[in-house]
Amino acid sequence: RRTAILISGRGSNMSALLQAAADPAYPAEIVLVLSNRADAAGLARAEAAGISTAVVESRRWGRDRAAFEVAMEEVLAARGVELIALAGFMRVLTEGFTARWAGRMLNIHPSLLPAFPGLDTHARALAAGVRLHGCTVHLVTPGVDEGPIIAQAAVPVLMDDSEATLAARVLEQEHRLYPAALGWVASGIARLDDGRVVLHAPPG
Ligand code: GRF
Repeated sequence: RRTAILISGRGSNMSALLQAAADPAYPAEIVLVLSNRADAAGLARAEAAGISTAVVESRRWGRDRAAFEVAMEEVLAARGVELIALAGFMRVLTEGFTARWAGRMLNIHPSLLPAFPGLDTHARALAAGVRLHGCTVHLVTPGVDEGPIIAQAAVPVLMDDSEATLAARVLEQEHRLYPAALGWVASGIARLDDGRVVLHAPPG
């Protein structure tokens, strides 16, 4: 499936996806990396990997999220994109956009959802004293970080963890989890069934 990765920043998850997709047997083909910020460090990493990149500056449209999304849709359509992977994409999408891409747009979130949706997840996990933390790949629905869960990975929270050490432990798992989860959606192993994602045996 022709896949776009949407980023806003450093793009380490993007790099993990590009690396997985470099294998011709991987079921998602990354045809575009799109950033809503021209200064996203991930853009240079994508270009170095020979992937087409595009910038649609969300700033240009201010609060008009729908107009920003129309501009993104044009770029996505021009590249024949079928699947979207959000990877550190820091814009909330409208209900219209999420409805158009329902079942075809994934996000990675740095917590074990439904715990800690939103920002600053590692600091909040430390403050809550949880012993397990982690990351979630889910389908995107209008409610931020609320969509059906595709896959999760857990890590221990250690007594001497700082936000940085915990974030690094989670990030390592993000880089393993996201390529696996995107592969399941692209190949049809992961399917929506009654509002939940069900994993089916691979075809054949
Ligand atoms: C990751 O922690 C991701 O889970 C969150 O934003 C961060 C993006 O990091 N949504 P990167 O740009 O993929 O390095």
